[in-house]
Amino acid sequence: MARRAAPDAAHSLPVRPPKVRVFFALWPDADVAARLDALGAEAHADCGGRRTRRDTLHLTLAFIGDIDAVRVPALIGAADTVAVEPLTLCLDRVGSWRHNRIAWAGTQSVPAALTTLANGLIDALRAAGFQLERRNFAPHVTLLRRIHDAFPERDVAPVDWRVERFVLVESQRLPQGAQYRILAQWPAGGSAGCPVRTEQ
Ligand code: 2AM
Repeated sequence: MARRAAPDAAHSLPVRPPKVRVFFALWPDADVAARLDALGAEAHADCGGRRTRRDTLHLTLAFIGDIDAVRVPALIGAADTVAVEPLTLCLDRVGSWRHNRIAWAGTQSVPAALTTLANGLIDALRAAGFQLERRNFAPHVTLLRRIHDAFPERDVAPVDWRVERFVLVESQRLPQGAQYRILAQWPAGGSAGCPVRTEQ
């Protein structure tokens, strides 16, 4: 009697829903990115490490992490309820953190509108059922990762960043480094509830 063939392994695998790794951020325009890139080059001379590519420099507002891709519309819906006031962020400090071995650009004076935006997002996301880590919001742009030595914080010539929007970003970790894709953006000054979807 003929033996039954074993089931095809591919058919017996459990079907996993596709996941995406996402976060909300401020994304600089080319001019601000170029100036931040120059700060990264200077800091690199102090502490080594791997520089953030100029086109991926950003300031994280709320990190979500890996979620089922089908939840992205709910994420966008939560962000729709958050209004962002136009604001200018003055990046006038660079420093480093030993615990995660990054060097960053930051500010001595966090605009109230930025804290309001980050807190508003976190509240809206939690209310929509997303789990976020409990971390104090420490606004920074990561310039370098895996630095060799920490260095003391110092003043730098201010980079004025006029914030025009916040964005939802998908992060893909590839062998050549993180790739980011903007999934949606919300203009500053617009009323809550009018995002601009981005198709790339
Ligand atoms: P970082 O630059 O300080 O590392 C994408 O990973 C972005 O989300 C990065 O800007 C990163 O901040 C931020 N982020 C915040 N919490 C994170 C976490 N738990 N894991 C990875 N990235 C995190």
